[in-house]
Amino acid sequence: MFTEPKIAPSILSADFMNMARDVAEIEEGGAAFVHVDVMDGHFVPNLTLGVPFVAGLKKVTKLPLDVHLMISNPLEQLPWYLKHAPEIVTVHAEALNEDAGEFDAAIDLIHEAGCKAAIAMKPDYDVERIKPYIEKLDMVLPMSVFPGFSGQKYVEGTEAKVARIVEMSREAGVAPLIEVDGGLKANDPTRAVCAAGCDVLVAGSGVFGQADRAAAIAGMKAVAADAQTNGFIAPWA
Ligand code: DX5
Ligand code: ZN
Repeated sequence: MFTEPKIAPSILSADFMNMARDVAEIEEGGAAFVHVDVMDGHFVPNLTLGVPFVAGLKKVTKLPLDVHLMISNPLEQLPWYLKHAPEIVTVHAEALNEDAGEFDAAIDLIHEAGCKAAIAMKPDYDVERIKPYIEKLDMVLPMSVFPGFSGQKYVEGTEAKVARIVEMSREAGVAPLIEVDGGLKANDPTRAVCAAGCDVLVAGSGVFGQADRAAAIAGMKAVAADAQTNGFIAPWA
């Protein structure tokens, strides 16, 4: 909620054969987190990386890991990831059975391991359903693309969800981080979500897809800070 804009480059767009080199580049270039997209080929069609990769990343970077679990059975697999001390762990609302208390179970499991807990939702998920959990969450992630692949187009209207999360957080007297993921670079979607109160900008193709990653991070930060200060009305709004 209106903290200094933080960039979380998604390694999905990095060179997997030169990951240590690429991650060093964003560390020097001013990234706040390494965003780690775990996809299981079931919750989303794509398959990416798992626990050994997260363990390996911890050895090559001092940057905190922001682990985004796009998997069908998060409660079963969470302990494996939590062992490697990521800073933030995000589970998807769609992968949890709310009636069985799985939102609370996942958040508690993450907190018991000393990590920060976040819940992500796909663009068609009703943001109101997050409300009962807002006080326990360290971060909320309204996805701005349907998860699965880098390089997709921002879903217009995500900025309204960010604004609604700000509102419900204020009503509850809490201030979780708000992250947005998908289609962000130094562009209008970044302006729109930052004007609405987004703190953490995930960018795959917007950072690792660029020749100069440090310049890409600096460009996004500048656009984000300007939108926070001066506001922004999206052309599609
Ligand atoms: C999408 C992933 C994103 C993705 C973002 O399923 O969760 O983190 O890598 O890629 P861009 O920034 O290229 O949209
Ligand atoms: Zn992601």
